[in-house]
Amino acid sequence: MISIQEQLKQKFSQALVSAFGSQYSNTDPVVVAASNPRFGDYQCNVALSLAKPLQQKPRDIAQQIIDRVDVGVMCETPEIAGPGFINLTLKPDYLAAQLNSIQSDPRLGVEQAEEPQREIVDFSSPNIAKEMHVGHLRSTIIGDSIARILEFRGHDVLRLNHVGDWGTQFGMLIAYLREVYPDALVAADALDIGDLVAFYRKAKVRFDEDTEFKEIARQEVVKLQAGDEDSRKAWQLLCEQSRREFQVIYDRLDIQLEERGESFYNPLLQGVVEDLAELGILEENEGAQCVFVEGFTNKSGDPLPLIVQKSNGGYNYATTDLAALRYRIQNDGAKRIIYVTDAGQANHFAQVFKVAKKAGWLPDGVEIVHVPFGLVLGEDGGKIKTRSGESVRLRDLLDEAISHAYSDLETRLQTEQREETEAFKKEVATAIGISAVKYADLSQNRVSNYIFSYDRMLDLKGNTAPYLIYAYARIKSISRKGEVDFDKLDSNAKIMLDTEQELILAKHLLQLGETLAEVERELLPNRLCQYLFELSQKFNQFFENCPVLKSEEPLRTSRLILCDLTARTLKLGLSLLGIPVLERM
Ligand code: ARG
Repeated sequence: MISIQEQLKQKFSQALVSAFGSQYSNTDPVVVAASNPRFGDYQCNVALSLAKPLQQKPRDIAQQIIDRVDVGVMCETPEIAGPGFINLTLKPDYLAAQLNSIQSDPRLGVEQAEEPQREIVDFSSPNIAKEMHVGHLRSTIIGDSIARILEFRGHDVLRLNHVGDWGTQFGMLIAYLREVYPDALVAADALDIGDLVAFYRKAKVRFDEDTEFKEIARQEVVKLQAGDEDSRKAWQLLCEQSRREFQVIYDRLDIQLEERGESFYNPLLQGVVEDLAELGILEENEGAQCVFVEGFTNKSGDPLPLIVQKSNGGYNYATTDLAALRYRIQNDGAKRIIYVTDAGQANHFAQVFKVAKKAGWLPDGVEIVHVPFGLVLGEDGGKIKTRSGESVRLRDLLDEAISHAYSDLETRLQTEQREETEAFKKEVATAIGISAVKYADLSQNRVSNYIFSYDRMLDLKGNTAPYLIYAYARIKSISRKGEVDFDKLDSNAKIMLDTEQELILAKHLLQLGETLAEVERELLPNRLCQYLFELSQKFNQFFENCPVLKSEEPLRTSRLILCDLTARTLKLGLSLLGIPVLERM
């Protein structure tokens, strides 16, 4: 189903041409959801911007558009308001027919993208042997949701984990590995280094205090880069240990990712630098090879170059990103590349993108976007940490969310005087705990910092995962209580929208498609969260005011259809946020 907004756009586009001629065929008719229900459901605001080119009063222009627009089936008679806005109110019969048409559609009327394309989402991307921290958690959750939405729209999505698996720190790690596990390479299968972060810290201490060790580490880097077999094995071993730890988190969060770490692009780095040199845009600066692009300066106002080869000959993070960008466009055929990292890397990406542009590596029609996000803060507004002041480990954070969810559940069961099995409680608490963490992150405008609070994310009355899942479970309880099989509701049944609450709910149900189209464009999953939150609120209003099971037919079936569509919309919407629903909670 073409979204209502899109249908209106098309109608108004046609009206513009018929009123003012074909030179207006590409003019955006500016059809937007009404900012206030007083103005109807949608507005067409194009008349104001046409006043100048047409040399007419906006209200007169609006009238000419109304005279020509063919929206009689969809809307009541359009009204001109204020300086020249056109207010549109949808007809209940039309809404009912649209609801009937999405009833038997598993996609609930959400269209596939008109031109599906290859899109890459570069997300999560922790670093080997280092902590996967809350910043990576945000990237993982936001990136996964963006990927899910693009996939649902029919795009061919490559979910890439750009793991930090290369760099000089491996010299130190390998040297330390050889020192403490001399047999590591012989008995690799049996090796379990345990906490790799602790291992990293100890290696770093050795590195800092012992010059002999430092020299060994340096040689290890050279050997590794030269492709020495033993060094490579040791490196792989370290990566494997890290990978196992990351995977535990991905499994718990239900995240699919394809690992393609920085090392993958190693063979391409030299070519990047050579090509930049050939293009004549490489400059030497304090011994390093750099590209200067306009608009980047350091604190004292001097031009800030992007370094692509350090003075010791080594390549860096930026070189790798340039190589990756080229590879993704040329070999993966990406039409859009989306990088999900903390806002602190905004400059890095802006510079890399500019260099790529300058080098001519960005063909027309390829879009590269950095999707930045803010910090995760503790409840005191400072950096999030444990009570003893250490940085929080992700698995502890998830465990704690689950245990909070568990105790909330016990309290609720007591007030409701319900008995449930231990297995049920565990399952519900796990699902709610993890979902609450995900939703708390996704429901914020990602650009802002957000305060991590278990109480707030688990609040059954707020804009939270438990609130939405509860709304879903409540609808499912209606079907159990009335012994109604939602799947068997007649898709030709008359849908009646006589009360205000039914009408409001119906309109909202029909906006899923345009909401998702917006998220796809702006890459802001919080818009989907807001949509789902409002849906639950509107459903609750409906449910409080409109008896469902106690109504007479055909009203009863009509209302049951609204219940079913709400439940299915919640389920689908939440699944696109990576959140499963519960039939009971
Ligand atoms: N490993 C990096 C970090 O932990 C994130 C990588 C993001 N992706 C990229 N293509 N640079 O900050």
